[in-house]
Amino acid sequence: MTADPVAGRPGPADRTRVFSGMQPSGAVHLGNLLGALRSWVVLQDEADCTYAVVDLHAITAPDEHDPAALAPRTLDLATTLLAAGIDPDRSVLFVQSHVREHAELAWLLNCVATFGELGRMPQFRDKSAGRDASVSVGLFDYPVLQTADIILYHADRVPVGEDQRHHIELARDIAQRFNHRFGPTFTLPRAMLPPVAARVMDLQEPTRKMSKSTTSERGIVHVLDAPDAIAAKFRSAVTDSDGEVRADREAKPGVTNLLEILAAVTGGTVEHAVAAHGGGGYGALKAAVAEAVVEHLRPVRARHAELAADPAEVGRVLAAGAERARAVAAPTLARARDAMGFLAPA
Ligand code: TYM
Repeated sequence: MTADPVAGRPGPADRTRVFSGMQPSGAVHLGNLLGALRSWVVLQDEADCTYAVVDLHAITAPDEHDPAALAPRTLDLATTLLAAGIDPDRSVLFVQSHVREHAELAWLLNCVATFGELGRMPQFRDKSAGRDASVSVGLFDYPVLQTADIILYHADRVPVGEDQRHHIELARDIAQRFNHRFGPTFTLPRAMLPPVAARVMDLQEPTRKMSKSTTSERGIVHVLDAPDAIAAKFRSAVTDSDGEVRADREAKPGVTNLLEILAAVTGGTVEHAVAAHGGGGYGALKAAVAEAVVEHLRPVRARHAELAADPAEVGRVLAAGAERARAVAAPTLARARDAMGFLAPA
């Protein structure tokens, strides 16, 4: 992978830069892990990675924003990211609101992004459907802040699940428009989706993506769920009545979801999963998926328990991360301000 060169970009031009973020709006689930977090961990071997707990994004929906829960959830998400393998010696891990450049660049980009393109974002349309007058401006503007997150770090690649693809394409459009209007300033990012499980579905409603705002807790597997809870959730997963283990997203969303999850956690393909389990029934498939998921999550759960015993250490990691993030973000913001023609402070 080669990066598109932008004059003034710090560091080696041929090293890929990665940025991604996760909201502290609830416990990390299997969709977050398989769609994004696993790729974050793997990319640390080959790229310069910056990852953020995006707390400013978590206040855009008033019904999901509980002031008493925000700080503990932020710390717990950081703890979970570390437990899953984010290594602060190789990656920059920080809390978005600790680096003020994000909010400031978002304002500058607000004057480059258009009302029309934000209004077309599928996620905004879903979340605001039928209540246009009462959704926050922040929810509407959410992808602009996300754009700022990404381009402050000159990211080439953004590892995300399928639901974020439109937001990354928008980030690219906004960066490109800025460069065109004010001169080359930002690297143009691209989304990076995993080969399987880019869209993990709810176990109870397999036509809906697994999401923190699910209707039934039984449909969502949390990374820190106890093994017997995970087994019970897979046992009650909704499938279909034809009894045949094969992949077909349209006709067999529940079975296909199980096969994709199995492929993702065993590092194989859906074809392998069908070859291994095609002869058995749904019960055997569910048991195999549950076992593989439990084994996959066991070390994460153990490591989380260790790290959670020393929150001050996680706090130190985040403070050091914010400092390193600022060292890249501040000069990028300064370039953008300069390109737009602001009077520099004396
Ligand atoms: P968030 O916090 O909703 O989700 C974090 C990551 O998990 C992925 N994901 C899924 N992948 C597969 N199947 C699912 N069911 C599933 N549910 C969630 C998401 O695609 C995401 O990659 N807007 C972002 C956060 C963000 C961000 C950024 C991401 C803010 N700034 C900059 C990338 C770059 C969000 O709400 O993700």
